[in-house]
This record gives sequence, C-alpha cells and structure tokens, in this order.
Amino acid sequence: MQDYNDFLEEILIPETELNARVEELGKEISQDYEGKSILAICILRGGVMFLTDLIRHLNPPVAIDFMGVSSYGVGLRESDGLVRITLDLTTSITGKHVLIVEDIIDSGNTLFSVIELLRTRNPASIEICTLLNKTARREVDVPIKYCGFSIPDKFVFGYGLDMDEYYRNLPFIGVVDLEKYESGI
Ligand code: PRP
Repeated sequence: MQDYNDFLEEILIPETELNARVEELGKEISQDYEGKSILAICILRGGVMFLTDLIRHLNPPVAIDFMGVSSYGVGLRESDGLVRITLDLTTSITGKHVLIVEDIIDSGNTLFSVIELLRTRNPASIEICTLLNKTARREVDVPIKYCGFSIPDKFVFGYGLDMDEYYRNLPFIGVVDLEKYESGI
C-alpha cells in the first residue's frame, strides 16, 4: 500500500480550515433547529468523520443512525448510476427531523435515491448537509441545505473519502494525482 504522499497532488482543504467550517456549520444548524431534536443520518462510509465532528457542535438533542449506500463499485472512479442500499436504518424516522450527513455530492444520484426512499417514511422534515459539493458533475438536482465547501472537479480523498477504501482517516481533503496512484486492489 502506498504512502499517500506518493500520490498527493495538493492539499485542497487543510485540517484547520475543515475544522473551522465544521464548527460554523454546527452553529448554523443549531440555530435553525432550536427547540427541535435532530435525527442525523450518516451515509456510510464516507460521511462518518464529518458526522462525528459535526455533532460535537450541535446544541439540540441529537440522535444518530446509519445508512449504507453505494454508488461506486470498488475500482470505479465514478458512479455507474446504480444506487445500492447496503444497510438500512434501525430506527423509525416517522415524525422526526432528519438531517442527512454526507461527505460529498457528485452526480447527485445517491442522495436523490436516498431522499426519495426516506420521504416515503414520513419524516417531519428532511434536509441535507454535505461537507463537499462537486457541482460540475451534477446529473440530478438535490436540495442541499448546508454545504461545507464547493470544490472543483478533481478526485479528492481523506476526511472520510477513500481511495479503494483506504486513507479515509486523513484529517484533510487532498487531491489525487491519478497517474501516480497505484491501485492496491
Ligand atoms: C460516495 C459519497 C456519496 C456518493 C456521491 O460514496 O460518499 O455517497 O459517492 O456520489 P453521487 O453524488 O455521484 O451519487 P461511495 O459510493 O463512494 O461510498 P463510500 O461513502 O462508502 O466511499
């Protein structure tokens, strides 16, 4: 397995900037949900780092649940358009204020499908909070309420985002030089 420095083209969002923005988002969400409780739904696996950091900055009562959704097969660098639910929620969302927490929205296919599914379960409200938004690649519209950063159409990794499942633990968002990356799979 390569050291990430071997294929890191640049650090797009350094750790300090990420942390500051996550804190800001937490404050904004806390104000908007004052007097309500939140059910934060993390879309696995990429959303995990963001979720755990974000909820530390939320003041309203927060419950969490997880949903496994996969749009990219292993080894694929972009969505094949097929969205697979790999793990469903364990709690009912009926009557709850659902906040979907994602690491990145790219084509929009994943969250479009997730929202369609969750709406059938009659939550009181449903909003999207994404750390990264890659607008250049959007294929379907998704209503994003909270967004950390709009980013250019570059292949990014770290802070939840993987390269063939590795490097999610890095505390920054980096850009991959695909010519230097050697797939370990
Ligand atoms: C990534 C990301 C989003 C989705 C965005 O998940 O976490 O869920 O792709 O792409 P889209 O807007 O084009 O649908 P991925 O399928 O790579 O799974 P992972 O979170 O486990 O890495």
